[in-house]
Amino acid sequence: MEKREAKRSIVLVSPPAQGHVTPMMQLGKALNLKGFSITVAQRERNQVGSSQHFPGFQFVTIPESVLLQQQGSDIVCIIYDELMYFCGAAAKELNLPSIIFSTTTATHKVFGTVLSKLNAKKFLIDMEDPHMQDKAVEHLNPFRYKDVPTSGMGPLEPYFELCREIINKRTASADIITMTSCLEKSSLSWLQQELGIPVYPLGPLHISCLLEEDKSCIEWLNKQKPRSVIYVSFGSLAQIGTKEALEMVCGLSNSNRPFLLVIRPGSILGSEWIESLPEEVSKMVSKRGYIVKWAPQIEVLALPAVGGFWSHCGWNSTLEGIVEGVPMFSTPYNGEQKLKAKYTESVWRIGIKLEGEMEREGVERAVKRLIVDEESAGMRERAL
Ligand code: UDX
Repeated sequence: MEKREAKRSIVLVSPPAQGHVTPMMQLGKALNLKGFSITVAQRERNQVGSSQHFPGFQFVTIPESVLLQQQGSDIVCIIYDELMYFCGAAAKELNLPSIIFSTTTATHKVFGTVLSKLNAKKFLIDMEDPHMQDKAVEHLNPFRYKDVPTSGMGPLEPYFELCREIINKRTASADIITMTSCLEKSSLSWLQQELGIPVYPLGPLHISCLLEEDKSCIEWLNKQKPRSVIYVSFGSLAQIGTKEALEMVCGLSNSNRPFLLVIRPGSILGSEWIESLPEEVSKMVSKRGYIVKWAPQIEVLALPAVGGFWSHCGWNSTLEGIVEGVPMFSTPYNGEQKLKAKYTESVWRIGIKLEGEMEREGVERAVKRLIVDEESAGMRERAL
């Protein structure tokens, strides 16, 4: 265990995914500034972070954190990510106050609440009925059956079960949600009423930590014309197939716009990095684009050269794009990202969503709409 000062301590528990760690660590920094000492409990050492990256924070494994409490440490609260819901039982057992931390949209949480009360079998029948696809789901307007964020979640019953666990507040006294209330006012008040505990919107929360940023792209971006570049990044978890990756690069290249592409190691299925892609890809990238394993995303989005953001619609990325007023092109991978893509296009009207399979023609059209069309000026204005 790493040493720390004896102050009132807050224990943070996050799963080891950048989109969850990022906001949790930012919250930790804010609480640290308010005088609390921060202990981060993780399943394995260095899984979420270390004191090297967060000076002043103490990093322990989950069993060590229980030991700390039993030894009379001054823990005043556990703040746990909603996916680490088992911590609710630990907080109760240890007789500690707890707060849930949700790194998602309020609307996604509303979805989880509504879905958790449904009969999975009947819902699946409706979902698969071609006549239902364009119909709005009860209580979830403007979402149609085909927009419901369940794809990528595997069989429905376990997913509904997960929703039940997530919305079960146990003994938590509040829910902190990484959102901005002006974006989802009605979902926030609905949620507050449903959960029966205060729901505090907090965000956007920016910070980067798990992967090393390749800052060389900044120099490249600074040489590009204003609003000419499409920045492409799918966060820390999404994976795509080789064929999809090829269609993506061909579409980008055919659009004749410069592009900055983030390909995380392991994000192309069956490939360590980009070695499974054909030779022509490197040629296309060197002609018009730039590729990195991980970008300083927040810095990138703020640069004048960036005219569009092709995103998987992770919540952090979506908020970061909105904050910088960058129009978005969305290709969501899992359920909750589908939901944000829908909001981005139809409710906030700050982006477009790729319909159907990833094919080079669709990508080319979308990039041109985003970078050159007047349509994108309206999106930029609305985002700002
Ligand atoms: C996951 C889920 O996929 C997402 O849908 C959920 O809302 C949060 O948890 P992730 O997929 O990593 O998150 O996406 P996202 O929420 O967008 O977070 C990615 C973070 O990594 C962002 O803060 C982004 O700025 C950062 N990032 C991404 C970089 O700093 N550099 C990169 O090259 C790519």
